Amino acid sequence: SLLDVVVNKEVDLDGFGACEGTLTCSTCHVILSKEVYASLARPTDEELDMLDLAFDLTDTSRLGCQIT
Ligand code: FES
Repeated sequence: SLLDVVVNKEVDLDGFGACEGTLTCSTCHVILSKEVYASLARPTDEELDMLDLAFDLTDTSRLGCQIT
């Protein structure tokens, strides 16, 4: 997942991925281009529920820990 990339590459994003991909936070919120968003599998209902809590939600928002 995108969260794995951030962790494995030691990208310094303070607070990103606080729940380590267990879908209990929204700190991995990312906003994608329409093209990238459309190329991905649809988000699950669980991801959509957590996305509803994300700050500054957009039509192309995803949770980075769910993007593979
Ligand atoms: Fe918590 Fe993605 S890391 S929902």
